[in-house]
Amino acid sequence: MTDHEHQSPASFWEARYRESGKAWSGRANAALVREAGGLAPGRALDLGSGEGGDALWLASRGWDVTAVDISPTALERGRAAADSAGFGDRVSWVEADLATWVPDNEFDLVSAHFLHSPVELPREAILRRAASAVAPSGVLLIVGHGAFPPWSTHRHEGPPLPEPDEVLARLELPMSEWTVLTSAMVDRDAVSPAGETVVMTDAVLTLRRTVSA
Ligand SMILES: C[S@@+](CC[C@H](N)C(=O)[O-])C[C@H]1O[C@@H](n2cnc3c(N)ncnc32)[C@H](O)[C@@H]1O
Repeated sequence: MTDHEHQSPASFWEARYRESGKAWSGRANAALVREAGGLAPGRALDLGSGEGGDALWLASRGWDVTAVDISPTALERGRAAADSAGFGDRVSWVEADLATWVPDNEFDLVSAHFLHSPVELPREAILRRAASAVAPSGVLLIVGHGAFPPWSTHRHEGPPLPEPDEVLARLELPMSEWTVLTSAMVDRDAVSPAGETVVMTDAVLTLRRTVSA
C-alpha cells in the first residue's frame, strides 16, 4: 500500500494540485469538444472539474456551468482563468466531495471527465447521481481513461478500467428513457509531462435522456 492510500480524498487532491503547480493544460478535453460542440447551450454540470478547462470552454460557448471539485486550489485556478477570460459570471465553482454532494438542479449537460482517483472515490454512485440530474432531453457524458497514462506514478491495482458498455451497465438506467449516442474507445494524441507525444485511449459514453411522456 502506498502512502497516499491512507489520505482522505480532500487532502490527497489538494496536495496534488498545490505541489504540482498548474496540473492540466487548461484546454477543454477533446471528447467534450467532440460530443458537446453541437449542443445548444443551457445549464451544464462538470463533475471533478479540476482546474476548469472544460468549464471555461463551456462558458465561452454560452453555457451556465456548475463546476464541482474537492480541491479549493484547483477551483481557484479555474475561477481565475474564467475571470480573466471574461466568463467568470457564467461559472459557479463548488467545493464539495462528490461522494456526498447531491445536485440541487437539473442540467442539460452533465459531464464527468477522468473521474478516477488513487484514493477513495465511489465513482459508480456518483455517476448514478449524475444521471439523475440530467434534464429531459439532456445529455450525460462520461469519459474515462481506457488505460492509465504511461507516465502515471500511481499503482493501479484492482479491476481493470471499465469500457463504456460496462459503465453503462453499472449506471443501471431504465433504457426506455435513454438513448446511447456514443459508446466507444477513442484514441487521441496527448503530450506527456516530459513533452513526448503519446496516444491515449478514452472510454467515451454519451447518453441522451428521452423526453418524458
Ligand atoms: C484526473 S482529475 C480530472 C480533472 C478534469 N476533469 C480534467 O479532465 O482535467 C480528477 C479530478 O477529480 C477531483 N476529485 C477526485 N475525487 C473527488 C471527490 N470525491 N469529490 C470531488 N472531486 C473529486 C480531483 O480533485 C480532480 O480534479
